[in-house]
Amino acid sequence: MSEPITYQQHWDRTDHFDPPSLLLDLSRERPLTRMTYPSGHVGWLVTGHELSREILSNPVFSHNYGIGHFPITKKGKQIPPLPVMPGMFIHMDPPDHTKYRKLLTGEFTTRRMNQWADRVDVLAAEHLKVMREQGTSADLVASFVRPLVLQVICELIGIPYEECEKIAQLPDTSNDESIELDDELAAGRESFFYVRDLVQRKRDEPGDDMLSRLIAAGELTDQEITNMILLVFVAGYSTTEAALTCSTLALLHHTDRLAEFRANPRSANAIEELLRYTTVNQYQIFRTALEDIELGGETIRKDDTVTVSLPAANRDPAKFGCPHALDFDRDTSGQMAFGYGVHMCLGQNLARIVIGAGLRTLVEELPGLELAVPLEEVPLRGRSTVVSMLELPVRW
Ligand code: HEM
Repeated sequence: MSEPITYQQHWDRTDHFDPPSLLLDLSRERPLTRMTYPSGHVGWLVTGHELSREILSNPVFSHNYGIGHFPITKKGKQIPPLPVMPGMFIHMDPPDHTKYRKLLTGEFTTRRMNQWADRVDVLAAEHLKVMREQGTSADLVASFVRPLVLQVICELIGIPYEECEKIAQLPDTSNDESIELDDELAAGRESFFYVRDLVQRKRDEPGDDMLSRLIAAGELTDQEITNMILLVFVAGYSTTEAALTCSTLALLHHTDRLAEFRANPRSANAIEELLRYTTVNQYQIFRTALEDIELGGETIRKDDTVTVSLPAANRDPAKFGCPHALDFDRDTSGQMAFGYGVHMCLGQNLARIVIGAGLRTLVEELPGLELAVPLEEVPLRGRSTVVSMLELPVRW
């Protein structure tokens, strides 16, 4: 058997578009491989598409944070296991997971998403207008992507947009590996108290929003509601911001694809291919085996931790021909940017709407849009569970 790779080796993102070369090599040659976690536990890393779907859809693999070896690190050091908080259903297995998730599925129906599509178009146009009034160059993340995504998520949940700074820092502090644990915990506490207070205010003055409907359902405690809202905010904000940023950068760098997109800015397959190509959830998708299981010619033992690399799975040549090419004509079905199985992204259709509206508005309103610096100078946020750019300098 080959030597296990180390956890540190798999955290080694240096390219704006491509996952670490080690993960790409493994995806081709050894899609299920042993990996030594920060605690010393020798578990597994999965980089193949088919095996990733098997792990994420087989109930033998648990996402219960309360069991197994906790592989989350800050500055390379393992952090103490966190308790599963009431309502934080991403860290639960069915039936608890199902109970909470079911209460939110009505927020993401096709009818609701159609209503959101119109609102997101309006918000994209408004934020672009403000940016354009400032001059002919900008950091697109700060001036367009972040405010657009933040306002959409705030309106969806029912957080007054003028108060968004109270919790806007939370996703970055929890995703960024190089931020101190104490800073993450402080941001977590502050956000928790802000949302818990908002729950009280919405009880008195309900609105037409997710939070008010959760309260009206009358099935949950304030603590459960607060944690569910924090989950939706953290899961929805930084991912969508990253995906729109990385997709814009991909278009501005691959100018042939930009021309194709300009010619057909409502192409759903272009958005799907950008999601596959950028796959922003790059680290810390992990599960714990509840019993021994034979998979991919190996025996995964009970209590083993298994990490799935979504970016590597989405570049698996056994699934996608020429996987490193950005190709709007390819068959994108089965792409895994939103994960797979019972935890597959709840907000994926809203994310598609926001990315589509953001890109369409940019190309239609700014025909001369281009990068203002060479690609190598665009600062990558690589050491983060969600890959993105710290800034995206553009001009038009
Ligand atoms: C491009 C943007 C997005 C990406 C790439 C993304 C990706 C993902 C992935 C990979 C998972 C599964 C995690 C796992 O299996 O461990 C997930 C779950 C989740 N996402 Fe997203 N997401 C995006 C946008 C959103 C939005 C806009 C929302 C809501 C407004 C959202 C809400 C959630 C929630 C609540 C879960 C947990 C689902 C569960 O445990 O059942 N996401 N997302």
